[in-house]
Amino acid sequence: MKPVEMKDGVWWVGGIDWDLRNFHGYLTQRGTTYNSFLIMDEKIVLIDNVKHYLFEEMIERISHIINPAKIDYIVQNHVEMDHSGSLPEMKKIVPNATIITSPKGAEGLEKHYHSDWDYKVVKSGDTLNIGTRNLAFLLTPMVHWPDNMVTYCPDEKILFSNDAFGQHIASSERFDDEYPFNLIMEEARKYYANIVLPYAGPVNKALTAAAELDIEMIAPSHGILWRKHIPELMAKYHKWAANIAEEKAIIIYDTMWKSTEKMAYAIKSGFDEKGIPVKMCNLQANHISDIMTDLIDTKYICIGSSTLNNNILPTVAAFLTYMMGLAPKGRIGMAFGSYGWGGQSVGQIEVALTNCGFDLMKQHRLQYVPTKEQLQHITQSVIEELNNQEEK
Ligand code: FEO
Repeated sequence: MKPVEMKDGVWWVGGIDWDLRNFHGYLTQRGTTYNSFLIMDEKIVLIDNVKHYLFEEMIERISHIINPAKIDYIVQNHVEMDHSGSLPEMKKIVPNATIITSPKGAEGLEKHYHSDWDYKVVKSGDTLNIGTRNLAFLLTPMVHWPDNMVTYCPDEKILFSNDAFGQHIASSERFDDEYPFNLIMEEARKYYANIVLPYAGPVNKALTAAAELDIEMIAPSHGILWRKHIPELMAKYHKWAANIAEEKAIIIYDTMWKSTEKMAYAIKSGFDEKGIPVKMCNLQANHISDIMTDLIDTKYICIGSSTLNNNILPTVAAFLTYMMGLAPKGRIGMAFGSYGWGGQSVGQIEVALTNCGFDLMKQHRLQYVPTKEQLQHITQSVIEELNNQEEK
């Protein structure tokens, strides 16, 4: 459990959560890390904590560098417990260390841990001299909670960005020039789609502020640290935050007796005819967080469900709830499904798509098992609608 020196006197001392697979609904198939950092200067600073069960791991890493009891400041960039869970144990070791956090951070920490800790509350533009270095603080509310802030060290040109620019990857490698770049970007994209997506406005503000900084390294609180591919990362964040949907389709469905699935493939044929790339996502085989990752830049979102007991299938309900929370904007939706007698599922999906603010394509709703002619009619209908859109 050794620390990793990022720059002279600046260390990664975080915890690696190799086995984590469920981050409140997000499939973290590569595990994750909770990154914390130690800056050795006249004052010793710990930036962020780790999840409670990795406290000993963090302490072991810090102990390779210094007695943890010598820490003077704890910068708590974010309240969420994956980054603050070890704070109560840490404070037992350093009762006199000052916690530096945002106004909402102090409020949130009090409401989590119910302790009488003293806080140094900072706002954007505040700085702290720690000897030969300075730290500057920038509040970044809603990236990811109201309390979030980032810490910048101009002397080292490191941005400690907390949740922003993270990825859920557990690895022995710490830097983006040590780990397969395509996998880092895949996980960064999944992270954005499943955590950051609803906060495009605050992300754009944070990107504008970050553009003013001279950055050589971005040290997020999850996953790999960025030092080689920062321009590529920034370009992707700008694109994702701009919410640019490409001419692509995704068909997400669950099916009881394959009738809804037949309809799904008939819809796919319509997109195929128009040369629009389309991805099929049976909810029995695809995790909702992976589907959201595809949805990040997909224009056409078609959702199908059979009707079960006057309702949509539970898998489809779960996906719709998840998607509504993440609130992708400016998409075109389509509802479809088969039914036996009630047939409520398609209308219920349309309500959800409307609540997302999507424009709607014509719905498709068929009783029992579709005929070949009915399926051809669906394909033709999709083609005609796409033709009409081209003419607009
Ligand atoms: Fe990684 Fe919002 O916590």
